[in-house]
Amino acid sequence: MSKPILFSGIQPTGNLHIGNYLGAVKNWVTLQNSGEYDCFFSVVDYHSLTGNMTAEERREQITRTVIELLAAGIDPEKSTLFVQSHVPEHTELAWIFNSLTPMAELERMTQYKDKSTQQAKNINAGLFTYPVLQVADVLLYHGTHVPVGEDQVQHIELVRDVARWFNNRYGNYFPETEVLLTHIPRVKSLLEPTKKMSKSKGQGHVIELADEPESIANKLKKAVTASEGEEGSPGVANLLLLLKEFGSAGDYTKFSAAEKEGSIRYGDLKQVLAESIATYFADFRKKRAALLQDNTTVTAIMESGAKKAGDVAKETMDRVRKMVGVR
Ligand code: AMP
Ligand code: TRP
Repeated sequence: MSKPILFSGIQPTGNLHIGNYLGAVKNWVTLQNSGEYDCFFSVVDYHSLTGNMTAEERREQITRTVIELLAAGIDPEKSTLFVQSHVPEHTELAWIFNSLTPMAELERMTQYKDKSTQQAKNINAGLFTYPVLQVADVLLYHGTHVPVGEDQVQHIELVRDVARWFNNRYGNYFPETEVLLTHIPRVKSLLEPTKKMSKSKGQGHVIELADEPESIANKLKKAVTASEGEEGSPGVANLLLLLKEFGSAGDYTKFSAAEKEGSIRYGDLKQVLAESIATYFADFRKKRAALLQDNTTVTAIMESGAKKAGDVAKETMDRVRKMVGVR
């Protein structure tokens, strides 16, 4: 019997950070290794055209994102790992879906509103129809399970909507998709702990998986712990959550008890957390460094991923072109 199809994507807009990891990528690896799904993971380079990177930066970052996913545990023998633009059917299907999606649905999208503020001088049409390309990514493979962080939930709801609009108009073809969240769907920024950790905010806000131990320690030293109200400090809560994920059970119990008693020393917490994170990703850093020297292997993985994904995509598009009447 065929397995349920799992799809997720990540933009090549910077190195992986612990928000991406705890919200999505760690879960991708677990789900992949469960053997219960047929997994597709894509580095969505066409999505990144809606932002402000240069061509040089993009070219370098696409390969680096593939390398980091491999170093984090995505296994090309178990999953289909590929670069979106290597499978041109993504943009073709996106056009068909664009013609089914009401403007008003896209105007509601929080990520579009956020990004329009962040890059007020570059509010391009791609930024607006970005979620439609995302819908095409998932449905091209008939994806039914999409593991992402909380900020993507609204986009995955659109996947369900578009599938329904298509099925109602052209005949039943696309499945219902559901989102898979982790128990930490939103890791907070180190410097603004009421907001999500995001690479667009700047280096001081995020811990990258590739960060060297000293860099992790320095960033954590500057992490905000000051309390902003009666609810306790969101910064401290975030650091404790990270300690729970990356540190030993003993350290977590010790620091969370000290926090409740009011005897916690933030300097100590930060130091233990920095060491825990550095150790947790030691293997990642080693694998990443090795892959950065091994162009041949990485290129071969991207080519075979594109071939596997492309075979599925071609079948879907053959069928879709007929269904909408252009063939
Ligand atoms: P992006 O880097 O925006 O392409 O995001 C890649 C994946 O990481 C998506 O599934 C996001 O939902 C997830 N993600 C990004 N930032 C965070 C965060 N701060 N907390 C949890 N998940 C996140
Ligand atoms: N928009 C997603 C993000 O910013 C990335 C993405 C593109 C994606 N296509 C996807 C995620 C398909 C899941 C499924 O994180």
